[in-house]
Amino acid sequence: MWSDDRIWQEWIGWLERAPHVVTPAHAARAYRAVLLGAGHTDLEADHALRVIWRTMPERTDGWRLLFNNLYASPTPGFSTVASPLLVTTVAARVPGAALDLASGQGRNAVHLAQLGWSVTAVDVSEVGLEIAAERALDMSVALETIRGSVASFDLGSRAWDLIVLTYAPVPVAESDFARRLVRSLRPDGVLVVESFASDRTASGRRPVDIDPAELRTAFADLTVEHFEDVVGLTEWDPEPTRLVRFVAVRS
Ligand SMILES: C[S@@+](CC[C@H](N)C(=O)[O-])C[C@H]1O[C@@H](n2cnc3c(N)ncnc32)[C@H](O)[C@@H]1O
Repeated sequence: MWSDDRIWQEWIGWLERAPHVVTPAHAARAYRAVLLGAGHTDLEADHALRVIWRTMPERTDGWRLLFNNLYASPTPGFSTVASPLLVTTVAARVPGAALDLASGQGRNAVHLAQLGWSVTAVDVSEVGLEIAAERALDMSVALETIRGSVASFDLGSRAWDLIVLTYAPVPVAESDFARRLVRSLRPDGVLVVESFASDRTASGRRPVDIDPAELRTAFADLTVEHFEDVVGLTEWDPEPTRLVRFVAVRS
């Protein structure tokens, strides 16, 4: 089999010319079929996919290409309406400054803007951000979109009344990032997180997986308003899976 670097380059090359995919899982299945069709064995294909998923969080060019592809798909395999968890959380809150990290097509950002929040949406996918900006325009609401990685985005200090991270392949529960998030919340500011879940030690973890216990520890300084660690339907895959929902407030 190829070296890890070659595996990555081949994947990027495929993403640049791939037919439309509808979810990241669909992309993985399609690429596995391509590898098998090119004569690689099952073991080699599985190895390549492990290398790819391990590398994705470090190389945002992969996410950008993958999500540009699937956001351009005429038949999205993911939810395009606002997260019910977010809708419930903000229902009785006074709008303020909101930050949607890894905002995708802006389903949450545009909902917040419609409610009167002043929203900043950050994502590496320019196609996702363009769709978000178009939706905001259609709804006649303001939306600030910033193309870039969450890793290098300056979250600021006491800057946000609400931070949203839904299905964001970023290390939400890692202590450094969690500290930055907490510092950037204003007093009474709310953090809303929803994603796939698995224990840190589980095999086959996806970059969007959060360890629910780690999440609680990372945000121990916040007051938890809502916590679920359940098996159910996520907004990004048709198969039931373990997921975590978390809402916490800075005092
Ligand atoms: C599964 S989608 C979730 C999108 C949106 N939050 C939602 O729930 O509809 C993941 C998003 O993360 C973005 N992304 C991945 N890595 C990123 C990073 N390091 N910084 C900013 N955006 C990132 C992708 O472009 C994609 O839009």
